[in-house]
Amino acid sequence: MQLPRYIAHRGLSAHAPENTLAAIQAASDAGCKWIELDVQCLGDGTPVIWHDARVDRCSNGQGALIDMTRDDIRSLDVGSWFSVDFRGERMALLDEALSLVSALDMGLNLELKLNVGHDPVQLVDVAVHRARQVLPQDRLLVSSFDMTALEHARSQDDTLALGLLYEAIPRRWASDAERLRPTSVHADWTQLDQERLIEIQAAELAMLCYTVNDPERFASWWDHGVTGVFTDDPALFDARYQRQLR
Ligand code: G3P
Ligand code: MG
Repeated sequence: MQLPRYIAHRGLSAHAPENTLAAIQAASDAGCKWIELDVQCLGDGTPVIWHDARVDRCSNGQGALIDMTRDDIRSLDVGSWFSVDFRGERMALLDEALSLVSALDMGLNLELKLNVGHDPVQLVDVAVHRARQVLPQDRLLVSSFDMTALEHARSQDDTLALGLLYEAIPRRWASDAERLRPTSVHADWTQLDQERLIEIQAAELAMLCYTVNDPERFASWWDHGVTGVFTDDPALFDARYQRQLR
């Protein structure tokens, strides 16, 4: 799998409300080839593109996703909190996001977001299954902090590209990798450890770092074997890197 240097985090979330169809379109318009989106299930099992356990931060409503149905979320405005320009934006269903990603010919890192009380097996069965039907194999990378979800995904699909997602990379990463046969390791760049990066390079796995919005402070990590970064705004990076986006 050819992973890019830049992945638009939650879509182009510096310029559009995160994890919306508008943010996916904005990422494509900005020349991004890949995006990262968070997926989770509502209480009625509908998979939606959303980061938080609740809708409060990024909508005009209140409440936990796990208590909501598809009808509940369709009446929410998930754009106005960001800017009046996005007033009336609706929470994206997974199916809508997949269709748009496919139409824009982009790659997708689908992060399985298991907030408290959510079922990893259900999320894999619904969301990964659907994503595999819509996107080509080399344009879909499934990641999660939740190793149970990744284990279930691997048990269902031997060829699916998986990303091990951590905050700091733990010592056990190698045993996770042996079990799950991932394509990549993803970690918080502020907690990177040179020794772990060397191990990951030696294992010939891609290394992706989140969320990098300070190119200058990050710069030296490129030399330590980082493959790519999740960023809210690829335009923060200099002109040399910008050219590689296209
Ligand atoms: O997948 C990388 C990154 O998105 C993980 O953290 O909290 O932004 O989903 P978060
Ligand atoms: Mg994420």
